[in-house]
Amino acid sequence: MPYLSPALNVMVAAARKAGRPLIRDFNELEHLQVSMKGPADFVSSADQRTEKILIEELVKARPGYSVFAEETGAHEGTDKTHRFIIDPIDGTTNFLHGVPHFCISIALEREGTLVSGVVYNPVTDDMYVAEKGHGAYLNDKRLRVAARKELPQSLIATGIPFMGRGPDSERKRSLKEVEAVVSRTSGIRRFGSAALDCAFVAAGRFDGYWERGLNAWDIAAGVLLVREAGGLVTDLNGGSDVLKGDILCTNEALHPQLLKLIRDAGK
Ligand code: IPD
Ligand code: CA
Ligand code: CA
Ligand code: CA
Repeated sequence: MPYLSPALNVMVAAARKAGRPLIRDFNELEHLQVSMKGPADFVSSADQRTEKILIEELVKARPGYSVFAEETGAHEGTDKTHRFIIDPIDGTTNFLHGVPHFCISIALEREGTLVSGVVYNPVTDDMYVAEKGHGAYLNDKRLRVAARKELPQSLIATGIPFMGRGPDSERKRSLKEVEAVVSRTSGIRRFGSAALDCAFVAAGRFDGYWERGLNAWDIAAGVLLVREAGGLVTDLNGGSDVLKGDILCTNEALHPQLLKLIRDAGK
């Protein structure tokens, strides 16, 4: 059974509560209001409602904690040491296309350190949780990153900046990295949810995952899942600034090999 700290319990309950109407929305996509934040960057009434429910539930249980959420930004609380980082739907494009691969992602930071994380796919009812020092779990199952040590046996996930996301030079660099990785491994997957990509690394399904240009809400919970499953998470310089948005998650054996491959490809 996973260890659920009181705060993690609150986060799990909030994700379940917000997940129920989200499933109803997913089954009636034609009723949603959809607007654009930028080219090919969509937000729907489901993203907004999910975020509202999550913030209400979390702040009701932990009044004063600060919140940083994708659709409404920073909400400063009186407690400066704790902050929830929320992505109400990670994988909005999948969601809006009826692809059942998206999730709710909630992380809790204490004094700038990730201490609790939840990634919840309401379609599959997969609840990934992690508490710093207490491991990562998928429902009742303890998670461990894959043990594969060789690139040719490895399945690697990534994300490629879509239209409107960053300059063309970044897209070109990502495509060069994809070419380098796909020609040395068992293959690449681009599933469209950074939080679930991290969760799949934690679960040993993917051997590694890298992406550039993410936001803290995309990956905060996922980073803790991977670390607590025994994996290594760094930025793409090999440093620890992972919430800035350039990320590589994998096991210790593959990390130096993948980092070199990705960095050399982008030069
Ligand atoms: C997106 C997903 C996607 C990643 C994008 C993110 P959203 O988040 O995580 O996999 O490639 O960069 O923006 O917008 O669906 O929450
Ligand atoms: Ca996201
Ligand atoms: Ca989102
Ligand atoms: Ca978004």
